[in-house]
Amino acid sequence: METLKANKIDVNTYSNFEEIIQKNVELDVSIDFEKQQMYGTVQTEYEILNPSLNKIILDLHGPDISEINLITEEYDEIPLEYEIYDKNEDKEALGTPLIINLESLKKENNDEYEKIFKDKLVTINIKFNTNEKCNGIQYLTKEQTHSKQYPFMFTQCEAIQCRTLFPCQDTPSVKAKYKVKTSIESPLTFLFGGIAKSHYSDSSTKKKIMLFEQNIPIPSYLVAFVAGDLEFAKISKRCGVWAERGLASKAANEFIDAEKYIEIAENYLNHPYEWQTYNILVLPFSFPFGGMENPNLTFVTPALLAGDRSMSNVIGHEISHSWTGNLVTNKNWANFWVNEGFTKFMERKLDKNLLGEDMSNLESIVGNNSLISAIKMYGEDSHFTSLSPDFSGIDPDDGFSTIPYEKGYQLLVYLEEKVGEDMFREIMSKYIDTFKYKSVDWTDFKQIYEEYVTEKMNRRNSRKILNSIDWNKWVTEKGFPSYKMEFKSKYTKEVEDLIGQFLDGKKNPENALKIFKEWHTNVKLTFLDEIKKDVKNFDEDLILKIKKELNLVEEYNDDVKALWYEITLDKKLDIEIENIKQFLQTHGRLKYLKPLYYGWINLDLESARTFFDENKYLYHPISRRLIQNKFDSQK
Ligand code: BES
Ligand code: ZN
Repeated sequence: METLKANKIDVNTYSNFEEIIQKNVELDVSIDFEKQQMYGTVQTEYEILNPSLNKIILDLHGPDISEINLITEEYDEIPLEYEIYDKNEDKEALGTPLIINLESLKKENNDEYEKIFKDKLVTINIKFNTNEKCNGIQYLTKEQTHSKQYPFMFTQCEAIQCRTLFPCQDTPSVKAKYKVKTSIESPLTFLFGGIAKSHYSDSSTKKKIMLFEQNIPIPSYLVAFVAGDLEFAKISKRCGVWAERGLASKAANEFIDAEKYIEIAENYLNHPYEWQTYNILVLPFSFPFGGMENPNLTFVTPALLAGDRSMSNVIGHEISHSWTGNLVTNKNWANFWVNEGFTKFMERKLDKNLLGEDMSNLESIVGNNSLISAIKMYGEDSHFTSLSPDFSGIDPDDGFSTIPYEKGYQLLVYLEEKVGEDMFREIMSKYIDTFKYKSVDWTDFKQIYEEYVTEKMNRRNSRKILNSIDWNKWVTEKGFPSYKMEFKSKYTKEVEDLIGQFLDGKKNPENALKIFKEWHTNVKLTFLDEIKKDVKNFDEDLILKIKKELNLVEEYNDDVKALWYEITLDKKLDIEIENIKQFLQTHGRLKYLKPLYYGWINLDLESARTFFDENKYLYHPISRRLIQNKFDSQK
């Protein structure tokens, strides 16, 4: 057999989507909590683009396949030959593609073979079940849930985990519509990220059946399932929250601004929210991200339930993806910044509208700090520090950092400064209108930008502006952005004042606790960031004094806690180690796990390792793998 090569447009898929493309996907799935399995069928209608197509290559990473049939117009099933290809070197990262052979059909059923090529359509049904190798799913025992009464399961497909649920063209270059049927034992609920169509109870099996549709074509990484003892609370006409029973009303209160965020984004982009409903699902703490923009159903970490709405920028971010990411999608993971940089940009526009420019600029400053430390962490020479990293043969999760977010954001602010806020807004709006339902790379945006500027400005000005922008340098160069952004916020002065007072060695900075407590979380984070950046100038006594004066970390939200713990670890102090242990047993967000484990490894490798080994079962398979990698690289 010839060797199999990854796709050229998207190096993280083996699928031959230039020859055949999935259009309509129908999933019929159930959960077996005892076996920790999702099982059922995936029936896909494909459009054939290449008239001499002889095989369909799908991505697969884990699930067992028991049957593959071609479905005829009369709903007859014709078995197809297939092979699971496991000779590729990158199978750890990309999986073992499924190759469906159409040559055998030609031999055995030529009529049908000719028909599909005449219609350029083929429908294939695959029977599958997941197993413990399927990293995109986590099962929680009932003891690991809020009520401790029922088990729970959820999926996380971005970046390339859809292939761990069922075989598919697992690439953001391809978009399809979905129809989903789920069935589950009452009183549990089994949701899909789409519009709920109907539900009924099956009288023979006593199971609850729910039907969902996603009629806006979506990339595979936006496929999402959750099953558990869930309840719903409404926020507005189109917004609501799902959470484990007992948590929904608290969550609805925390995320009350969802409707406002949607309206501001609609206004900014001059483009309606097309997805009809917007719900937020609060997961158990093992969820590895702050938020994930699954369509109609943003997934979030319960760490956002701070009680004071201080983490609702995450909601603004995920809502923004409804346009940047979910309507207009990066066509491969090298263009990830086109999803995340644009969404960061939108997130800060929303915050500017809700909280003012000083606050939104402060977020840009905090973001810039995280950009600098991420570039230092990778080393300026690493291709991961560029906006177009090379993901050949590796799982894009392994190159995940704030760089595409913050460097991408800064490029957009740079482009905005060139043409002014009003024109830039019009360009964003045109970009969404032009590319919605499609997948793009950054040059598609560049083209819109250049066309718009050329059309709207006089020749001299447009030339001058366009000639001054070195897109390639911004997008392909490694290391720090060559153009240094200045973000100004009145809050930085307040932060400097308090830091200065501590550094001055005054016994008790005046009103320190009162000032600190009244600050918005972002200001608190900036204060801690400043200490972290300059930690060698804070000796142990001063750290202890700051801890005592500011009552760290008792009453603050998880972002503040985690950053304070990082500082103590950077300082190689074990003063917070008991709190850190407790935190690591109740938080699964990678944004916290990574720096805390990395810091602890620097402080005391062996105790960190022992603790991780004892507690890793709490974490999501994705987090477990990424933290394990860090320990493995220590040997
Ligand atoms: N789409 C991302 C999460 C993601 C990225 C999952 C890559 C898997 C692979 C999501 O929109 C996101 O960026 N979440 C952030 C929110 C923050 C930037 C406000 C998070 O989880 O921290
Ligand atoms: Zn995002």
